[in-house]
Amino acid sequence: MIGNLINAVIAGIGVCVPDRVLTNNDLENIVHTSDEWILSRSGIRERRIASPREATSDLATVAAVRAMEDAEVMPEQVDLVIVATNSPDMLFPATACLVQDRIGAKNAGAFDLAAGCTGFIYALCVGSQFIATGSYSTVLVIGSETLSRFVNWEDRGTCVIFGDGAGAVVLKPVSEDNGILAFKLWSDGGAGRHLTLPAGGSKRPATKDTVDSKLHYIQMNGHEVFKLAVRAMGKVAQEVLASAGLKKSELDFFIPHQANLKIIEAVARRLDIPTEKVLINVDRYGNTSTASIPLALEEALRSGRIKKGDHIVMVGFGAGMTWGGVAIKW
Ligand code: UT7
Repeated sequence: MIGNLINAVIAGIGVCVPDRVLTNNDLENIVHTSDEWILSRSGIRERRIASPREATSDLATVAAVRAMEDAEVMPEQVDLVIVATNSPDMLFPATACLVQDRIGAKNAGAFDLAAGCTGFIYALCVGSQFIATGSYSTVLVIGSETLSRFVNWEDRGTCVIFGDGAGAVVLKPVSEDNGILAFKLWSDGGAGRHLTLPAGGSKRPATKDTVDSKLHYIQMNGHEVFKLAVRAMGKVAQEVLASAGLKKSELDFFIPHQANLKIIEAVARRLDIPTEKVLINVDRYGNTSTASIPLALEEALRSGRIKKGDHIVMVGFGAGMTWGGVAIKW
């Protein structure tokens, strides 16, 4: 407990990835690329791709049900559902409302949160504030994406890096000194032009011309995003460690957004964190945007790499540009 505020803990976690695996070799038959290029530039070997009948809400629903089971929480107990996504089922209603209905969380409010690939970190911080103030006692935070629907499968600079998936956590209050210790969120809208999906909103509604010009797909200046991501995630990790009152040597485990192995390695080098303390699964899932951090966290927990009492830091970076970090005592 900090002052009169109550700490929020991750009381349960669940994930969901589509069955279909798309390997780098498969991509060689789709665009002019090679397994060697993708692996050496990004560390990605394969990614999951949603089937035509799977939307973002479907993956989110499965992850949410698994997280509630893990936390031993009934749907009626959920006070709030937040879905962080960049690939909602529709512009509205919010994907969170679709999930709220599907899981039977009939006593919950629900909304989507858009903060690029940092969305899960943002949603975790937002959700934790409802717990901290004592307003709510059970908050479901979900990161879910089907970005495969929004990549231009003729653009080798983007279609090789993104993948689909979802992860969900249940936040609960705790009376001990564990849980979320510190967080920091950042944005630089001025740099936002480096990663956009230009059409389909109020500025450029869908027309034949926007479709023909492929403006409904992700456009990315990968090189710029790469540089910004390394700098931002390194800095915010140090900021949350400092505000949690932790020395770098006290950090037990580091979970960065899984965008690119080279980015992760560069951030870990900047922070002087040995690789055995860093979760890396970008090789198997690619960049799943808001789902990447919960997918990585679940893997770290399942494999026993995080133990009770460990200090962990999670950092994200993405469109906006946005970035942020959270320090947690497990
Ligand atoms: O989640 C947050 C948002 N996204 C990110 O964090 C992504 C950050 N950026 C990246 O991960 C990297 O920039 C990429 C993996 C996307 C690209 O790697 P890069 O080393 O920055 O390559 P590049 O875009 O500078 O392109 C280098 C060359 C170009 O050819 P020329 O102009 O030098 O002849 C590209 O056309 O590589 C070419 N290229 C490819 N070649 C084979 C770009 N994509 C591919 C490809 N296969 N898939």
